[in-house]
Amino acid sequence: MYHLIKISDLTKDKIASLIELANDIETDRRAYSKVCEDASLASLFFEPSTRTRLSFEAAMLELGGKVLGFADASTSSAAKGESVADTIRVVECYSDIIVMRHPKEGAPYAASRKASVPIINAGDGGHNHPTQTLTDLHTIMKAKGRLGGITIGLCGDLMFGRTVHSLVEALSMYDDVHFVLISPEELRAPDYLKEGALNKPNVTFVETESLDESISGLDVLYMTRVQRERFFNEADYVRLKDRYCLTLATLKRASRDLAVLHPLPRVNEIAPEVDDTEGAWYFKQAMYGKHIRKALIMDMLEARR
Ligand code: CP
Repeated sequence: MYHLIKISDLTKDKIASLIELANDIETDRRAYSKVCEDASLASLFFEPSTRTRLSFEAAMLELGGKVLGFADASTSSAAKGESVADTIRVVECYSDIIVMRHPKEGAPYAASRKASVPIINAGDGGHNHPTQTLTDLHTIMKAKGRLGGITIGLCGDLMFGRTVHSLVEALSMYDDVHFVLISPEELRAPDYLKEGALNKPNVTFVETESLDESISGLDVLYMTRVQRERFFNEADYVRLKDRYCLTLATLKRASRDLAVLHPLPRVNEIAPEVDDTEGAWYFKQAMYGKHIRKALIMDMLEARR
């Protein structure tokens, strides 16, 4: 049995095999429609979600399994003061695998220390979001056919963006990856990434505040939202929230085969006019998230057996 708390819990070989399985599942959905019919997935969302929760639930249902859980912690006994550890010890009596999102960094790790079923971190505060990263890697493979030998721009909130943190950790496992970190001064990537994943000999990085000046050299552009919920004061959020907006005019400076990804939800950082361009991968990305989560559920349940 294994838990998925951070992306480095998976090896490169495991990531490759999950992507391969996700592709098989996409090609022949019916062949996998009963593989989890004896299993149930609990989805515990202590923080709002559309894609992650619904794609996990759709994934399990399409694999023939059952789903239980809550989308709003205020309807659970957490609202009465129950600890995460106690919640997990109860929910594991009713389910075979638990997906959990929590606003506190480390909560899924704490849960995994007590759990006798696999725990999947579906996002913990500003820390990690490993299944979004699997989705992102799967999408980059679809768009570019490789994970090494790319130049990727990460734009927006690099300080609090858990999807960015997990994606940097993941891509730093591959050869010849160049990161262009595009953010306002106040939202730069945290030092632990610069001293860790970004400090490896196989990767390089630069920091800049300008999307316009850096877009021309990119293979992949990963846009992110400035997250109101992570700010300590509203004035800072208001000052920074509209700093970047990818428009058709900005894209004129880019390579013709630039792939634009976004974990979503978006607010203003990609203009809707970009949605119909060939390089817009973000809605397909949300679909690939369901396929790769199916592969993950199957693999984690198999490892438990
Ligand atoms: N990408 C992502 O985590 O989206 P949700 O917050 O809607 O789950």
